[in-house]
Amino acid sequence: MERDELLARLAEMEEAALAGGGEARVRKQHEAGKWTARERIEGLLDAGTFMELDAFVLHQCRDFGLEKQRYPGDGVITGYGRIDGRLVYVFAQDFTVFGGSLSAAHAQKICKVMDHAMRNGAPVIGLNDSGGARIQEGVASLGGYADIFLRNTLASGVVPQISAILGPCAGGAVYSPAITDFVAMVDQTAYMFVTGPDVVKTVTHEEVTKEDLGGADTHNRKSGVAHFKVADEAAMVGLLRRLLSYLPQNNLEEAPRRLGNDPVDRSCTELKELVPTNPNKPYDIKDVIRSVADEGAFLEVQPDFAANIVIGFVRLNGYSVGVVANQPMVLAGCLDVDSSIKAARFVRFCDAFNIPLLTLVDVPGFLPGTAQEYGGIIRNGAKLLYAFAEATVPKVTVITRKAYGGAYDVMNSKHIRADFNFAWPTAEIAVMGPDGAVNIIYRGKMAEAEDPVATKAELVEEYRRTFANPYRAAELGFVDAVIRPEDTRKVLIDAFASLENKRAENPPKKHGNIPL
Ligand code: HXC
Repeated sequence: MERDELLARLAEMEEAALAGGGEARVRKQHEAGKWTARERIEGLLDAGTFMELDAFVLHQCRDFGLEKQRYPGDGVITGYGRIDGRLVYVFAQDFTVFGGSLSAAHAQKICKVMDHAMRNGAPVIGLNDSGGARIQEGVASLGGYADIFLRNTLASGVVPQISAILGPCAGGAVYSPAITDFVAMVDQTAYMFVTGPDVVKTVTHEEVTKEDLGGADTHNRKSGVAHFKVADEAAMVGLLRRLLSYLPQNNLEEAPRRLGNDPVDRSCTELKELVPTNPNKPYDIKDVIRSVADEGAFLEVQPDFAANIVIGFVRLNGYSVGVVANQPMVLAGCLDVDSSIKAARFVRFCDAFNIPLLTLVDVPGFLPGTAQEYGGIIRNGAKLLYAFAEATVPKVTVITRKAYGGAYDVMNSKHIRADFNFAWPTAEIAVMGPDGAVNIIYRGKMAEAEDPVATKAELVEEYRRTFANPYRAAELGFVDAVIRPEDTRKVLIDAFASLENKRAENPPKKHGNIPL
C-alpha cells in the first residue's frame, strides 16, 4: 500500500473513534447539559497533553445483534496526560456509545490505565457516565466490574483515586467510586444508586425520584457517599484540578509545595476575641481555619454532611495540611456517628498520603441518646480514635475551647501520639462540663442546700475555676504550650517545620482491624 493510503486509513479510523456514538447522540448529550467524554478530558487536562490509549478497541460480543454495532473505543476513552504539569491517568465513559455501559473490553481499558497508574505512581481520575453493566454481555460485564473493584482496592493508599460522577452510575457500578478516595457529583445530572426508583417501588412500595434517591444533594447531605457537589461540568474541572494540587502523586511522595505571599509570622488578630466568653455561645470554627491558612484558602471536603465536624485541606507556608475541626455552630460540635466516620476516613486518607494533620478541638463530648447508641456510636466513634491513633504523619492539635471526656482523648490528644498539643487560654479540659460534673459530685450537698440554685451556681463556678482551663493539662504535660490565639499561624508553621523529618512507624502487621 502507498504511504498516503496507510495514513488515510489511520485518519479514517481516528475519525470513527472521534465520532463516538454519532452526531444525534452527541446532540442529545449536550441537550441534557452534559459534555462529551472527549470534551471532559480536554477540559480537565493541560492543553495538548492527552495521550489516548486503546482508541481502536472493540467489544467481542456476538449476541443480540451487537456484532453489527461496534464503535472504536467501546464507550470509554482512556489514557494519560498532565494537570499542572503532573502526570495523571484518566478514563471517561462515553454515554453516546451504548449509554457508556461497561463491556468486558471497556473494563479492560480501564484496568489498563489503572495498572499503569499503580506501576508509575500517579493518580487515577474516573469520569463516570454509564448505564452500568452492558446488558447484552451478561456475566462478562460483571467480571469486568470485579476486575476494576480489585484494582481500586489494591490501589487504595498507593495512588490517589478520584471519581467524578457526571451522569448515571447505578447498580454494582457504584462500588468502584465508593472505594476511591473522593467522589464528586454534578448537581441535577449525576445520580448514584444500587437499585433505581422502579425496583425500589416494587420492593418497598416507596415512590421516589432519581434525584431524591441518589442525586448530588442526597449523597452530599444525607448518605455521605459523595464528598463534593458542583453546579456544572466546568465547576467539576476546577474542583478536580484544585483537589489534586493538595495531593501527592503517590504514597511514597509528598504533596507539592505551593508558596504564596502570605507571611509565616502573620498575626491572626481576628482570632483574639473569636471565642465567646460564654461557653454556651457558638462561633464558626471555619474562621479559625481560614485565619491560619495561607491566603485564607480552604478546600472543604464534605461540607454538607455531618457539619458538626469540618474537614478539608489548607496550606501552611506552602505545605499541604489536612484539617479536622469540631464545629461549635452545629450540634455544639459534639461527635456523633456520621461525624466520626467522616473524619476517620479523612484522617486515614491524609496518613496514607503523607499529608500532615492539624486538629482543632472544641468538643463538649459524644452526642447522647438512643439514636446514637443504637446507631453504634461506640463502634463508629472508635473509628476516629483508631484513625488518629494509627496515623504516623506529623500531627498537631490546638484546643480552642472545650475538650471534654472521651472526645478529648479521641481528638488527636497527646496520648494517641499527637506531636504537639497546644491550647488557647480559653481551653477547658476536663472529664465533663461543669454543669454535669456538679450534678454528680455534689448531688448530696445540693439536696441539703437552703438555696439549691445559688449553691449550684457557686459550685459550677468553683469547678470551672479549678478544671475548666488548660493549666491542669499543662501541669501534666498533656498540653505542650498555652498559646495566644493571634500567634496560632506562626506557632503551627514552626511546629510543622520541626516535624519535617519525623520518623514514626506502627508495628509490622498484615493490616489492623479498624472497627468497621
Ligand atoms: C447496554 C445500554 C445500557 C446498558 C443504556 N444503554 N444502558 N446498553 N447496556 N446497561 C443504551 C440504550 O439502549 C441506548 O441505546 C443508550 O444506551 C442510551 O440509553 P437511553 O435509555 O436512551 O438513555 P436515557 O433515557 O438517558 O436513560 C439512561 C439510563 C437507562 C437511565 C441509564 O438507559 C437505563 O436505565 N439503562 C439500564 C440501566 C441498568 O439497569 N443497568 C444495569 C444495572 S445493573 P441507543 O442505541 O438507543 O442510543 C449493573 C450491575 C453492575 O450495572 C454489577 C457490578 C458488580
